Amino acid sequence: METWDAIRARRNVRVYTSDPIPEADLLQIAEAGWRAPSSTNRQHWDFVVVTDRSQLESLSTVWRGAHHIAGAAAAIALVVPQYDDERNRLVSYYDLGQATYAIMLAATGLGVGAGHSSVGDQAAARSILGVPDDHDVAFLIGLGYPADRPLRPVLTPNRRPFDEVVHRGHW
Ligand SMILES: Cc1cc2nc3c(=O)[nH]c(=O)nc-3n(C[C@H](O)[C@H](O)[C@H](O)COP(=O)(O)O)c2cc1C
Repeated sequence: METWDAIRARRNVRVYTSDPIPEADLLQIAEAGWRAPSSTNRQHWDFVVVTDRSQLESLSTVWRGAHHIAGAAAAIALVVPQYDDERNRLVSYYDLGQATYAIMLAATGLGVGAGHSSVGDQAAARSILGVPDDHDVAFLIGLGYPADRPLRPVLTPNRRPFDEVVHRGHW
């Protein structure tokens, strides 16, 4: 899929077919996150790729908005170190946002749907994934082929009006 089509076709996909994602495609999706830019290239992130059904089902309980992870073909957990100071925390979450979007766009380009989930129960998420106590499982990204409708450019996205959001030269 062309980049512009992938940008327009990406949407949160939360219902998936039972088809597995080929390993090469899953690795390519993870590589998109690995290639993402980060502040001073510090790459303060780790990605845990999960395909085990019981792990996916367990992960679906770590947040009230994580139900879709149970039925996903795979999930990528985005893990960050814990920071005491606001600056490092802000920057690390900015960086994670870039990795997230790279992963989601790469997935869309391959026809794979992706759906965010936050994480509420850190202790459970760490335990399921074997993440050390000094790190947080910041987000989960569910992955799988859409069971609702194919990934095609969304012609009328649910967004604030373009001219209200995009300013030219001044606010
Ligand atoms: C930081 C962040 C956290 C999110 N957390 C969740 C979540 O926990 N569960 C969920 O179903 N969607 C979650 N979303 C998805 C948003 O609801 C979604 O991106 C937004 O409604 C726009 O829809 P779209 O992605 O389909 O364009 C999250 C998105 C972001 C950026």
